[in-house]
Amino acid sequence: MSAAVAALRSGDLLILPTETVYGLAADAANAQAVAKIFEAKGRPRFNPLISHVEDAVAAERIAVFDDAARRLAEAFWPGPLTLVAPHRAGVSDLARAGLDSVAVRVPGHARARAVLAAFGGPVVAPSANRSGRPSPTTFADAMEETGAFAAASLDGGSCAVGVESTVVSVLGGKVSLLRPGSVTRAEIEAVVGPLTESLEGHRSPGRLTRHYAPRAPLRLNADTARDGEILLGFGPGVGEPRWSLSPAGDPREAAANLFRMLRQADREEPAGIAVAAVPSEGLGEAINDRLRRAAGFVG
Ligand code: TXA
Ligand code: MG
Repeated sequence: MSAAVAALRSGDLLILPTETVYGLAADAANAQAVAKIFEAKGRPRFNPLISHVEDAVAAERIAVFDDAARRLAEAFWPGPLTLVAPHRAGVSDLARAGLDSVAVRVPGHARARAVLAAFGGPVVAPSANRSGRPSPTTFADAMEETGAFAAASLDGGSCAVGVESTVVSVLGGKVSLLRPGSVTRAEIEAVVGPLTESLEGHRSPGRLTRHYAPRAPLRLNADTARDGEILLGFGPGVGEPRWSLSPAGDPREAAANLFRMLRQADREEPAGIAVAAVPSEGLGEAINDRLRRAAGFVG
């Protein structure tokens, strides 16, 4: 733990477990440290990072919250929700990609929260993958992706959620969904009422077309494997999958398995990876978002 905090204090990178996916972390206030993240990931500099803080009080030190933001924070923190709000102070321009807004979240993972409490300031942590690759959800996968760039690392086990946080913008008094995640659209609407449809231009700048992608081509809504393909199943009734995202058809289990199984399949260098259909209600919206992006279908 002290090595983790020391790495952040000296402007170095840290492999940080969270409940969603592993992050590659740095001191958000230190632009030189933040620059190391963009280099390690090969991430375009127009794509801003999420600042992680200990609690909602610390969040309001870096962001300006309105009533909706406070209610969302109250309902879902600590947990897999990121709020995009006007920047107040303390997060470097580079971390925000020059925007007036900042993305902030209070993670639910005990080890992450202990690091944040001990460090005392905002910590940026994008997923610890190289840009465009599936996010790591195990310590080994995180180390394989960007471990070489980190001065310290914390093993927090397998990530319980498995897909990145839900990103919600509260800018301009409107609440809109920028990235679906494990906090579902319906759960957010239950707290703040109907969401404003986010226009393409207001999407998260980082939502590049091909993202979360394995090397092998991905085929969606498959019910059998074609020649040379590895089939990932979901629920009963899919023809002989190599692995199943969830044999019982539980979206929580499927989200937790998604990136690990894509990586596992990719390691065998198959002609393709075929994935069974996952219903898009609830958490399925986030799973299908990641699958469509991994297949290169959405902008
Ligand atoms: O679950 C997660 O959120 C993980 C863990 C490590 O916390 N982190 C993560 O970070 O997924 P990253 O950098 O891979 O994704 C950040 C997303 C991007 O889509 C980015 O464009 C968006 O948040 N974002 C960040 N700041 C923003 C801003 N000011 N306005 C709009 N979108 C923003
Ligand atoms: Mg990412």
